[in-house]
Amino acid sequence: MIIQPRTRGFICLTAHPEGTAKNVQDQIDYVKSKGKIANGPKKVLVIGASTGFGLSSRIATAFGSDAATVGVFFEKPAAEGKTGTAGWYNTAAFEAAAKDAGLYAASINGDAFSDEIKKQTIDLIKKDLGQVDLVVYSLASPRRTHPKTGVAYSSVLKPIGQPFTDKTVDFHTGVVSDISIAPVENEEDIANTIAVMGGEDWKFWLEDLKAAGVLAEGVKTVAYSYIGPELTYPIYHNGTIGRAKEDLQNTVPVLDDLLKDLHGKAYVSVNKALVTQSSSAIPVVPLYISLLYKVMKEKGIHEGTIEQMQRLFTDRLYTEGEVQLDSEGRIRVDDWEMRADVQEEVSKLWAQATTENLEEISDIKGYRDEFFHLFGFNFNGIDYNADTNELVGVPSIG
Ligand code: NAD
Ligand code: NA
Repeated sequence: MIIQPRTRGFICLTAHPEGTAKNVQDQIDYVKSKGKIANGPKKVLVIGASTGFGLSSRIATAFGSDAATVGVFFEKPAAEGKTGTAGWYNTAAFEAAAKDAGLYAASINGDAFSDEIKKQTIDLIKKDLGQVDLVVYSLASPRRTHPKTGVAYSSVLKPIGQPFTDKTVDFHTGVVSDISIAPVENEEDIANTIAVMGGEDWKFWLEDLKAAGVLAEGVKTVAYSYIGPELTYPIYHNGTIGRAKEDLQNTVPVLDDLLKDLHGKAYVSVNKALVTQSSSAIPVVPLYISLLYKVMKEKGIHEGTIEQMQRLFTDRLYTEGEVQLDSEGRIRVDDWEMRADVQEEVSKLWAQATTENLEEISDIKGYRDEFFHLFGFNFNGIDYNADTNELVGVPSIG
């Protein structure tokens, strides 16, 4: 079928198999260009492996460390008149490239929050790999059904305490406007968001993996977090999602304890703000990202998810000696984003930003391009008017 972008709000309903394959191949090429990760992981489980930071983690460990990878995600293949999801096509492309390179890769498609998918994953690891030495936890979801109680939780993106009013942008149209977001009305909103995006499911995964004996001696596990500048504190760091991230951080000592007898270690890595399917849904953040990209590109320190993950594994998680942590025990690969000179310039631009000057003072074009790249669109060299086969399958799922 002929596949063109079709958007509704901040989501894109279609994805292009060849374009997403190009996105994956570009990431593989980047990782290869950086050489091997010394003493990197060899058997890796990535939970949330199909898009964003999780996909880049899978690519960075496979092609940077010759790792066998098991990827867990929730994606859809093509069905009557509908394209598959970007993460489905990403995985198909990844698995094909991994196979060509002689690397083991297998995937599990289903609800990672469920006991059933955890069991399927464990069975697959037992059968094919025996054990894993790295578990990457990179889920981003608006909902979670609790596996023990069946309660369905929905997360909210709200400030806590007072309403938050600031600028935001519709990145499709470039219109900058004020947005007011009402604070949570009750503690339940906070608790629900923690239930979805906090550390409980990460803990459940590690408990089940350990009980099944599929964690290797010296295993590491890493989950991803974000802090960002004061500008976005009300909606992010000090908001409901920030509480969930705090809970994720509080899970680190619990997991360290669980993994102690394996000499294993848990980490939270604070990553840079980047265009992903999840971050485009957060108010205010796309405007911040489009200004941040402008400043970081000008300074020559811009990174995408693959550059971030390559740096995480090379310079942080698998370095000689101790893993470098901040005063609160977190890995920081948002260090360049948070540099004072970067943040000062972003703040200045933030104060100036209007619909009229946005194209000039921000990288809104880069934002838009990257958003469409997530779905395989806006790539040079791909004919989006040509017929393409949407019925691409993930080989290991069939
Ligand atoms: P993303 O939307 O690109 O990826 C989410 C992944 O989770 C996908 O693979 C998806 O299939 C999977 N997933 C979602 N629900 C699932 C379910 N029920 N079962 C199985 N798989 C499921 O998101 P992302 O931006 O890469 O976010 C990953 C992590 O990184 C999150 O913890 C996020 O908070 C964090 N992070 C994001 C940013 C950013 O700017 N995007 C910055 C720092 C940290
Ligand atoms: Na991810």
